[in-house]
Amino acid sequence: VIGFFQPKLLAGRRVVMTAGPTFEPIDPVRGITNSSSGKMAYGLARACVQAGAEVVLVSGPVALPVPMGAHRVSVRSALEMREAVLAAVPGSDVFIGVAAVADYRPAAAAEHKIKKSGAELAITLTPNPDILAEVAALPNPPFCVGFAAESRNLDEYAEGKRKAKKLPMVVGNLVQDGLGGDDNQVVLFDEAGRHPLPKAPKPEVARSIVAHLAALLPRN
Ligand code: CTP
Ligand code: CA
Repeated sequence: VIGFFQPKLLAGRRVVMTAGPTFEPIDPVRGITNSSSGKMAYGLARACVQAGAEVVLVSGPVALPVPMGAHRVSVRSALEMREAVLAAVPGSDVFIGVAAVADYRPAAAAEHKIKKSGAELAITLTPNPDILAEVAALPNPPFCVGFAAESRNLDEYAEGKRKAKKLPMVVGNLVQDGLGGDDNQVVLFDEAGRHPLPKAPKPEVARSIVAHLAALLPRN
């Protein structure tokens, strides 16, 4: 493109994202979940819309409004999230796994409310599918971006996840630097190495992530 006309970074692109926590039922009134405000994912969805993308936000339970122009598919459990993602991904250019997916779910949710007995209660957990790894392993996968929120050894764990799940890009952060707050400090990992971004408000971090992934996207 020559001159003043700059097409938007994600014009004509379809982006599918996961957001928020998942909720894994124990019985009709209880469950286990992860702490995730959804702020980073929703901010990233907004940044993708502003960059010209069509955005599908497959979201676990969060207390946030749907970003203008994005389409939200509300889910609760990891299994529901997986179903919604696999339905939305065909034809998409980018998949971004931002959700804090519960790694385990109760092996069997009780049909009725569990009554207390005073004795110890053990709940057997079974592993959930890895949604991001599954999308990245599809025959013709979209450009897959993962998130790695770690409490230590960020570089080792984030780059380890990128390699293990065969992702072109991972956004890493130390949980003490981001969880629940309005600012975030992240490091981007890709084939070329690590790219630390300055600590900034989440909307600004989101725009930087979009610019980075857009530059790595194959031409369409
Ligand atoms: N993820 C996913 N499905 C899962 C677990 C994780 O899609 N069942 C995605 C997350 O959305 C994130 C990335 O994988 O983009 C990394 O998640 P994370 O929990 O940090 O890593 P895990 O692979 O689950 O490893 P661990 O929790 O042991 O650190
Ligand atoms: Ca996990």
